[in-house]
Amino acid sequence: MEFRSIAPASEAYTRELALRNEVLRQPLGLDLCDEDLSAEADQQHFGLFDGETLRACVIAAPINESTVKLRQMAVAPAFQGQGLGRLLLEQVHARLRRQGCATIVLHARQGAVGFYARLGYRSEGSTFTEVGIPHRRMRCHLTEPGTP
Ligand SMILES: CC(C)(COP(=O)(O)OP(=O)(O)OC[C@H]1O[C@@H](n2cnc3c(N)ncnc32)[C@H](O)[C@@H]1OP(=O)(O)O)[C@@H](O)C(=O)NCCC(=O)NCCS
Repeated sequence: MEFRSIAPASEAYTRELALRNEVLRQPLGLDLCDEDLSAEADQQHFGLFDGETLRACVIAAPINESTVKLRQMAVAPAFQGQGLGRLLLEQVHARLRRQGCATIVLHARQGAVGFYARLGYRSEGSTFTEVGIPHRRMRCHLTEPGTP
């Protein structure tokens, strides 16, 4: 499995949109095509590729000089629970550390809170609704010992 950046407007970005739609939107009866994605051109897109096939993806959106928000984390259904999510986040953490990022924040779906907790993220605040389902705010300090 190869970790790669995905350039906005590339062929790989089209595959990323398809994976995100399949994993994160269609199960909720939603369609990514209905959303304004224009801000995504200024965000970093990362993926795990098996040849040219995208198996997992995530986006890092800058908040300020040392903080990034991760969004739209998705692993292809047939490959979930096999370590790809962990591998992708480990690679993303390493890349963001090199860029000077110290803190990552994200909105985790309730069902994914345990996954992020395994990767060093802590929940904060109360549950809130996004895309119609419960979420928790989570935060990870990349400089903290033990963070993958
Ligand atoms: C949530 C998701 C990204 C996790 O990726 P994954 O490849 O399935 O997870 P991994 O196999 O890499 O698991 C890594 C670790 O987290 C644990 N884990 C995985 N999913 C978990 C979950 N839903 N709850 C609790 N723990 C979980 C694993 O047991 C594993 O633990 P270990 O490495 O300490 O043994 C993926 O399952 C997915 O895309 N789910 C559907 C979409 C989604 O919910 N995206 C997140 C939006 S916020």
